[in-house]
Amino acid sequence: MMIVVFSGAGLSAESGIPTFRGDGGLWEGYKIEDVATPLGWMQNQKLVLDFYAQGFEKMQKCQPNAAHFAIAELANHFDVVCITQNIDTLLEKAGVKDVWHIHGRIDYQKCEWHFDIPPMYSEWQCNYKSPINKPVEWGDLCPKCGKHLRPDVVWFGEAVDMRVDDLYKIQNQVDVFIVVGTSAQVYPAANLLKFFQDVPTKYFIDPDPNYELLDGFTVLEGKATKYLPALIESLKEELA
Ligand code: APR
Repeated sequence: MMIVVFSGAGLSAESGIPTFRGDGGLWEGYKIEDVATPLGWMQNQKLVLDFYAQGFEKMQKCQPNAAHFAIAELANHFDVVCITQNIDTLLEKAGVKDVWHIHGRIDYQKCEWHFDIPPMYSEWQCNYKSPINKPVEWGDLCPKCGKHLRPDVVWFGEAVDMRVDDLYKIQNQVDVFIVVGTSAQVYPAANLLKFFQDVPTKYFIDPDPNYELLDGFTVLEGKATKYLPALIESLKEELA
């Protein structure tokens, strides 16, 4: 039994991490183009690092909520592929192994010269990446090539490693597709709704769902902690 759980910022909202497009969103007080684009990085690296340092401190203090733990519980019973747009590590803190962070993760850094480009151009880039337990600071340089280090997150306009080969390997094996806490407005991530459109059983959990995108989904209109634990319990009974 294979289940794909695709999540967005709404999954972590009840842990205290604001969503991107809701009131009090993560971007509040900052312009996306200043802190989440390669141009913003070129123009003001310190501003970008300050923004992510705030995000780092906030995310490190937050704890998983019942929805994160429900996904971890599901993974104890079935083959679960957890794909998230979130850069926080609350799913890992809840016990989920091998989370696909398709927009990167706050607890990793990489060289500013690390580009997710085909290996044939590898001599043009530095592949340095490493886990961090404190935010990247202005002046932190790559130990491999001396350029500046940056957060290992995907900025607008950058390539997203959707792990397409891995997705095609599982596409026809998925029995249940659960989407939780995403406005499904950002591509290519949102393409997953199309990619898994033929999965027989699909659920969409969100207090403010965009019904135009939800053909074939059972929509649970509400918060992740309200619906996900109960859904997981019913799946455990139904699919065991
Ligand atoms: N439970 C479930 N869903 C919730 C909750 C909650 N408690 N609170 C809010 N939501 C929903 C909102 O209704 C919204 O549909 O979560 C969704 C959050 O949408 P966005 O803020 O757009 O976040 P997300 O979909 O993850 O954004 C995708 O955009 O800005 C980029 O890289 C960033 O990964 C992010 C991507």
